Amino acid sequence: MKVLVTGGAGYIGSVMVPMLLEGDFDVVVLDRFFFGKETLKDVEGHPRLTLVKDDIRWFDPSLMRGIDAVIDLAALSNDPSGEIDPQKTLEINNRGRVRIAKLAKKYGAEKYVFASTCSVYGFQDGIVNENSPVNPLTTYAKSAVLAEQDIMPLGDDKFSVTFLRQATVYGLSPRMRFDLVINAMVLYLWKEGKLKIMRDGTQWRPFVYVKDTSRAFIKVLEADHDLVNKQIFNVGSNEQNYQIFPLAQMLAEALGMELQYEWYGDPDKRSYRVDFSKIKEVLRFKPKYTPKDAAKEIYQALEEGKIRDDIKTRTVQWYKYLLEAHRIIKEVELDGKIL
Ligand SMILES: NC(=O)c1ccc[n+]([C@@H]2O[C@H](COP(=O)([O-])OP(=O)(O)OC[C@H]3O[C@@H](n4cnc5c(N)ncnc54)[C@H](O)[C@@H]3O)[C@@H](O)[C@H]2O)c1
Repeated sequence: MKVLVTGGAGYIGSVMVPMLLEGDFDVVVLDRFFFGKETLKDVEGHPRLTLVKDDIRWFDPSLMRGIDAVIDLAALSNDPSGEIDPQKTLEINNRGRVRIAKLAKKYGAEKYVFASTCSVYGFQDGIVNENSPVNPLTTYAKSAVLAEQDIMPLGDDKFSVTFLRQATVYGLSPRMRFDLVINAMVLYLWKEGKLKIMRDGTQWRPFVYVKDTSRAFIKVLEADHDLVNKQIFNVGSNEQNYQIFPLAQMLAEALGMELQYEWYGDPDKRSYRVDFSKIKEVLRFKPKYTPKDAAKEIYQALEEGKIRDDIKTRTVQWYKYLLEAHRIIKEVELDGKIL
């Protein structure tokens, strides 16, 4: 099976692409490489891997020829990045994805899998499942909801569309993200030996390990059409809904440290818990890893200097930096000067 992975050089993609190659898939990565291409350096040159540097909004559709399935990861990938330029966020995260899905169908692919997010639920009392009303609070979450709604009707008996609403992801990746809660906590435990925790620490959040969520996408590729067509799945597990303070304690304990912390902010009333029973029952999906595993792995990688706390690991800061650099270059070009 030949799979197009948009955004395949990103945090999740750079973990998932090697897994797809191990699983005997042919893989085409379509990515702007905003975080560099070196995130795929361990697999670059693989005979079943093609890397294409282009934008989901305007790439040449002939790239879709011969593609059997699409895993659609490309996006401005969190709430703050989505607010830098809401118009562009809608262009990429909504219309860009709809374009991908329509082209996939037009060129005869059989499957389309959308990397959605549990943040479509916003904050709600109680436990939300796939049938709960959505409550998107940011441009990022709104564009995911709109894309889901626009893409859902494309599913038919030859073309399946599936929406994976992922919990907040954690764990080591070649494109490391320290703007994700668990990864950030481990970084600060390593760097400063203590954490700043938002009051009052009882707020709930769902999490999933990066290799586990990658496996969920692969499970959809391997599943029968009727099991996944026009289906939404929350990706995570009921056991991995955590309250923030006990989570911090658990991470410190995994690292053999006593938790040192200070509180900040007003009590955070924004809490949400997600029910992950559907993916367990329908796709037999069960995460294999826990935040404790990730804590040790990330800590060790920091110790060994394999990952660093640099600006590229903070998604919003990096996008702001790229935009500013682009603006300066344009200005210099307009002045007829060369940098
Ligand atoms: N990481 C999480 O916790 C999480 C949780 C829920 C959902 N998601 C979703 O999963 C997907 C992947 O997330 P991630 O953490 O790997 O993000 P990421 O930012 O690390 O990766 C996104 C990739 O998409 C590429 N990209 C962005 N805009 C593009 C465009 N217009 N054309 C081509 N390529 C483009 C970037 O270069 C990058 O490599 C995103 O859709 C994100 O919203 C992530």
